[in-house]
Amino acid sequence: MHSIRIVGAGSIGNHLAHAARRRGWKVVLTDIDDAALQRSRSDIYPARYGAWDSEIELKDARAAAGDPADVVFIGTPPDSHVPLALETLEKMSPQVLLIEKPLGCPDLAGCEMLAKQAEDKNVFCAVGYNHCLGANTVKAEQVLASGQIGQLQTITAHTREHWRGIFNAHPWLSGPSDSYLGFSSRGGGACGEHSHAINIWQHFAHAAGAGRVSDVSATLDLITRDGADYDQAAYMTLRTTEGLVGDVVQDVVTSPHEKSARLQGDRGFLEWHVNHTASSDMIEFGDGSSPAEQVVLEKTRPDDFIAEIDHLAEIMAGRITSSPISLERGLETMMVISAAFRSHALGRRVTIDWDRGYCPEAIN
Ligand SMILES: NC(=O)c1ccc[n+]([C@@H]2O[C@H](COP(=O)([O-])OP(=O)(O)OC[C@H]3O[C@@H](n4cnc5c(N)ncnc54)[C@H](O)[C@@H]3O)[C@@H](O)[C@H]2O)c1
Repeated sequence: MHSIRIVGAGSIGNHLAHAARRRGWKVVLTDIDDAALQRSRSDIYPARYGAWDSEIELKDARAAAGDPADVVFIGTPPDSHVPLALETLEKMSPQVLLIEKPLGCPDLAGCEMLAKQAEDKNVFCAVGYNHCLGANTVKAEQVLASGQIGQLQTITAHTREHWRGIFNAHPWLSGPSDSYLGFSSRGGGACGEHSHAINIWQHFAHAAGAGRVSDVSATLDLITRDGADYDQAAYMTLRTTEGLVGDVVQDVVTSPHEKSARLQGDRGFLEWHVNHTASSDMIEFGDGSSPAEQVVLEKTRPDDFIAEIDHLAEIMAGRITSSPISLERGLETMMVISAAFRSHALGRRVTIDWDRGYCPEAIN
């Protein structure tokens, strides 16, 4: 039986606790806030999954830091991800260290050090961009690899979703300024919170052999209101080292949501949708000469996280050595987030020099 220590008993911490329990793992759920632990037991977990699971151990995060576990999962606000990940690697060597997205803050503080520490300690680190593990993504990769859409010409990716859903899930928050969400510098705002779109763009670019993002041009809609300071919308154009050009839009104002990617090849197209309906993801592809083929993949919200837990089990079993949710991929997304802020501030396109590491000096 595997064990997981979860740092942060909030929305995502409960999702991972439930998914791990569904796979029979031993779960220790920790937080620095006792109210969060109590809320998990009496409110979040029973409301989502029917009843509290008394096999889950609740513990103060400070007392638990360093406790052994096969997997440590950091599910706290983004500005604490890198410091907590470094502290974990200093105290112990789990088989897998999974860190939520976005990996950190646009200033990239600690990112290079984390990459080095993970390598030195030989700990498999991952970042929670779990859309990369979805059945719709796997199916889309198969279509891409089959050559059905021909040579990839461009990718567009959107994560556009009003953030009222997040606030509805956190009724104890009074608004954006009450959490990291209302501060781009702390990993909130559209660039950080909805960075799934950047990540899936990069994922499909890698799948097509188009390399890493080398150029970023961004226009952000920045909001300073009621004590909050965040980007409510981010419009980015990206170019990769191999010359693939495309765009990403992320915002926290669109309703109904749009979570999609479109890959255009020289012979056809492929569309990828998340939450196509309340209970399904979907892909659609075709060449325009006949009706497009649609593949609907039924899933529930808990399935997203069960797939993530299964992926970690495969990593621990040694059956997966190259993961789409690797730390390296999470760092690549972090670099694009940081580059977007730099591009907007400078009013021009910026480049990423990957030889210089995961640091602000690499973005010019
Ligand atoms: N991959 C996904 O689909 C997904 C979904 C939701 C949230 N997230 C990400 O998960 C992260 C957390 O979001 P959330 O909605 O669960 O937040 P949340 O506010 O519901 O929970 C965060 C918890 O972390 C605790 N915490 C803060 N600092 C801590 C520390 N140093 N040690 C231990 N606990 C600490 C807080 O007390 C809080 O209970 C964010 O980065 C968010 O983007 C990802």
